[in-house]
Amino acid sequence: MRRPVRIAITGAAGAISNSLLFQIADGSMMGDDQPVILQLIEMPERMEALRGLAMELEDCAFPLLHTITLHDNVEEGFNNAHYALLIGARPRGPGMERRDLLEVNAEIFTRQGKALNDHANRDVKVLVVGNPANTNALIASRNAPKLSPSQFTALTRLDHNRAKGILANHTGANPLDIDGIIIWGNHSPTQFPDLYHASVLGQPVMEQIDQEWYQQEFIPKVQTRGSQIIDARGVSSAASAAQAIIHHMRDWTLGTPPGQVVSMGIISDGSYGIEKGIFYSFPVRCNYGRYQIVKGLDLNAFSQKMMKHTEQELLEEKAAVNHLLPAETEASHQQLSICLRSGVTLYADGTGPEASFKYLSTNRVM
Ligand SMILES: NC(=O)c1ccc[n+]([C@@H]2O[C@H](COP(=O)([O-])OP(=O)(O)OC[C@H]3O[C@@H](n4cnc5c(N)ncnc54)[C@H](O)[C@@H]3O)[C@@H](O)[C@H]2O)c1
Repeated sequence: MRRPVRIAITGAAGAISNSLLFQIADGSMMGDDQPVILQLIEMPERMEALRGLAMELEDCAFPLLHTITLHDNVEEGFNNAHYALLIGARPRGPGMERRDLLEVNAEIFTRQGKALNDHANRDVKVLVVGNPANTNALIASRNAPKLSPSQFTALTRLDHNRAKGILANHTGANPLDIDGIIIWGNHSPTQFPDLYHASVLGQPVMEQIDQEWYQQEFIPKVQTRGSQIIDARGVSSAASAAQAIIHHMRDWTLGTPPGQVVSMGIISDGSYGIEKGIFYSFPVRCNYGRYQIVKGLDLNAFSQKMMKHTEQELLEEKAAVNHLLPAETEASHQQLSICLRSGVTLYADGTGPEASFKYLSTNRVM
């Protein structure tokens, strides 16, 4: 059997973790031959609830669950972590403005970024789930100068899965037969769920659906699905968020199925004209434990407008917390892990399979 990997999780006694931890322990995230050590982190007042959850995990007798440790602080909880799932965040309270929410979470994610920098494994892969997820990822990464910003990601896979599920339901297709959906931008109602590159069984989706349905119904439905669920259940989506976390981490670590595209909130390197240095959801493929932006997609005027709109919101969020962040440097834009394995041979003199360059020119991957 392999050596166990360490997975640190904040907000471990919360609703999402209640589903997530059992799926991680049964091998759904890291593979069914990979033992795991769960380093569970909660607020001091939730430690008793966390102890109860740990007992339940123990009672499942999962063969892959090597050890569980419980922590009331991130400095201990992140120790040597190979993976960190940052789920705990401050929810919006009564009378709280978006700016206040950004500021209280900035404090939490500043501390977490520093703790990852000082205590986690040098190659840690970080997924930020707690909202506002994209900007929290920015704050954590800027406070972790020893780590590459490309080691940080924000969860937009739930939006991606929602788009796929709603499209499958509309067309009668099996979700397995749908590919090429893209979520661009922020995990918020400004996100752009793009079907222009999507296909069902290899046939373009846009030839099979009505434009009006796409723009008037599909897009707003995906964008506001989170609040529709809160209205219906009284609490926010938890099981579907847990499933999306499993998909995101599994694909990042073990690779996306051949040819398939998924959406991940990652640091922008300027691709598709999106400003560098914000965490923006892009289409990616994963391989060798790294992700790579899918390049060279043609974008129509409608898509460009939608992408700019959600970029604008992220720039505003960044501006609202900028005074709390360590200075941004050009080096931090460049300090991105390079993937040398693109699947094609690139010759030293710059020649090679030129037709593929359009799609493979990126080398900014984690
Ligand atoms: N990105 C996405 O797609 C997505 C989807 C669903 C929910 N979310 C967000 O995920 C977060 C968690 O959702 P939930 O339903 O599990 O919430 P929840 O309130 O049920 O649980 C959150 C837990 O986090 C803990 N916590 C808060 N601050 C913490 C800190 N600094 N350190 C450690 N633990 C801390 C709380 O004690 C609580 O137990 C929320 O911010 C929610 O908005 C994001």
